[in-house]
Amino acid sequence: MSFAIAIDGPAASGKGTIARALAVYFGFHHLDTGLLYRATGVRGGDPVQAAQSLTAEDLTRDDLRSAGAGQAASRVAAIPEVRAALFDFQRRFAAREPGAVLDGRDIGTVICPDAEVKLYVIASDEIRAQRRAAELGADPAEMLLQLQERDRRDSERATAPLRPADDAVVLDTSDLAIDQAIAIAIEIVDKAW
Ligand code: C5P
Repeated sequence: MSFAIAIDGPAASGKGTIARALAVYFGFHHLDTGLLYRATGVRGGDPVQAAQSLTAEDLTRDDLRSAGAGQAASRVAAIPEVRAALFDFQRRFAAREPGAVLDGRDIGTVICPDAEVKLYVIASDEIRAQRRAAELGADPAEMLLQLQERDRRDSERATAPLRPADDAVVLDTSDLAIDQAIAIAIEIVDKAW
């Protein structure tokens, strides 16, 4: 029996760091599903065709972490056919033994509605902007506007909008050091394990 951990939340909430740490701690596979949308967004051309033909090479491009790639990702992520093209890969990944951690926006609601653990990671807008600005060497005020625009687009789209699953545990990382947030997440998974 595999064990799926679904982690969702807005940009720069800390979900990726928590997902990676959980995967290492429990010896599970990890998929950052945002990379699928980023790779689709930066490929250019027809996004549906891009999503249908993503290669390992697309997923390891150096420019995927940029703010521009994040914006491009959230635009193509609103297209239902793009999401449909990426569905099976994510579903299969989630079933990998002995377990898998997936982080994104719709893991607990659409990709893995039966996940053994669902976390919804949040943090205040200002904290998220500061974290992402430090990571990318960018201006926090500019970052704040970009994150808010992206969150709005992700929350307001008709298909798989960003929202917590009804049975998700909400983890607010605003006032937590990363080690504290990871320790709480491990405790939550341990209880369900
Ligand atoms: O998580 P990350 O910031 O890399 O995601 C980039 C964009 O990809 C998000 O803003 C969102 O529009 C989209 N995304 C999504 N569903 C996911 C993961 C990411 O729509 N499961």
